[in-house]
Amino acid sequence: MVQDKNIVLGVTGSIAVYKAVEVASKLIQEGAKVNVVMTQAAQEFVAPLTFRAITNRPVVMEMFNPASEFSIEHVTLAAGADLVVIAPATANVIAKLAGGIADDMLSCTVLATKVPIIVAPAMDANMYQNQISQQNIAKLKGRGFTFVGPGYGRLASGEVGSGRLADIEEIIGTIHQVLGRRGDLAKRRIVVSAGGTQEPVDPVRHIGNRSSGKMGYAIAEAARDRGASVVLVSGPTALHPPVGVEVIQVQTAVEMRDAIVDATKKAEALLMAAAVSDYRPAAAAKSKIKKERETLSIELVRTPDILGEVKGDFVRVGFAAESEDVVENARVKLKGKNLDLIVANDITAVDSGFGVDTNRVIIIDRQGKVERLPLLSKLEVAHKVLDRVVKLLPRKRQNKRT
Ligand code: CTP
Repeated sequence: MVQDKNIVLGVTGSIAVYKAVEVASKLIQEGAKVNVVMTQAAQEFVAPLTFRAITNRPVVMEMFNPASEFSIEHVTLAAGADLVVIAPATANVIAKLAGGIADDMLSCTVLATKVPIIVAPAMDANMYQNQISQQNIAKLKGRGFTFVGPGYGRLASGEVGSGRLADIEEIIGTIHQVLGRRGDLAKRRIVVSAGGTQEPVDPVRHIGNRSSGKMGYAIAEAARDRGASVVLVSGPTALHPPVGVEVIQVQTAVEMRDAIVDATKKAEALLMAAAVSDYRPAAAAKSKIKKERETLSIELVRTPDILGEVKGDFVRVGFAAESEDVVENARVKLKGKNLDLIVANDITAVDSGFGVDTNRVIIIDRQGKVERLPLLSKLEVAHKVLDRVVKLLPRKRQNKRT
């Protein structure tokens, strides 16, 4: 995705320039080549040397620099890029681009490029709300520019309002999303479930489980990065949903079932990474249960088996967290729930399963083929599972036609 991509990072004169240093740093860590273009005003806030040291490349500042490795820099930069990101983008640069003015390296590069352009505005709240700025933004959006932010919060002026540069995570997420548009899941609608459900016992208590949601969120992120339009049906978690993913928050198994039935109506794949509670209290107490008795029994009834129940012609992927006979138990679930794939893991291993960022899984398919993967990050596991899903998608489509 971002690996080996050529990204032009346009930096303009805002107090938020220091945050662009971190954007550059994150992109470099992810394996991108970053060419920073700084306007004159931007150089007043942070020295070009900072970007040079982080990107290990010269920072582009002048229009016609005979010493530069680029002959006609703006054209060469534009031609070699996969993406242009302007962060922070001042009201001034936005106005310039909307008006088609090209009088510095950055505006020339933008005008000369055919690749996607992401703009992360940062300015005073009044400037942002001004109709002229809003019209300029609308014009650029109409021409296919992608805007991220601005966020709401405390501004350099001390006032609170909209105008803060979007969070770095949001900018990076948008970069992933835009670069993934032509990925192998482009235009595919994928539904992912994540996290554990919570079944109310009374107004303050619930029955839950140890699922952190990390595996499901990683799948949603990986699918987004490959171009999918992703619906993430999530139980309560402490995680930030990936940028660009449609999130449906649910609490109980029944709510999750309803959300999934609805979301899969147009889906081409369902990856059910959620840890769904198999039982719920027959009736949640209306008021808080007091400790009046020495023992307390709560009658539990079964919740719906979502994967077992949900109908439709899409690739079905289940997960099986097992503590013994991993492959055998997973096979039984694969058959019983009519799955295309099941991803099994041994929850007794300390480096796999609940709460951790890594997982060691076994993927089993309908034909019974077993693929044992080494210990990987959950994001790597997500991509391995999606590699298999991608192979199953065309077959499903052909089936539909015949
Ligand atoms: N699952 C589901 N609905 C449920 C329970 C589980 O859709 N009520 C899904 C899970 O999201 C997972 C797969 O079924 O993808 C297997 O879940 P797991 O809890 O391992 O299996 P169960 O069917 O609940 O079987 P058991 O708890 O007896 O191992």
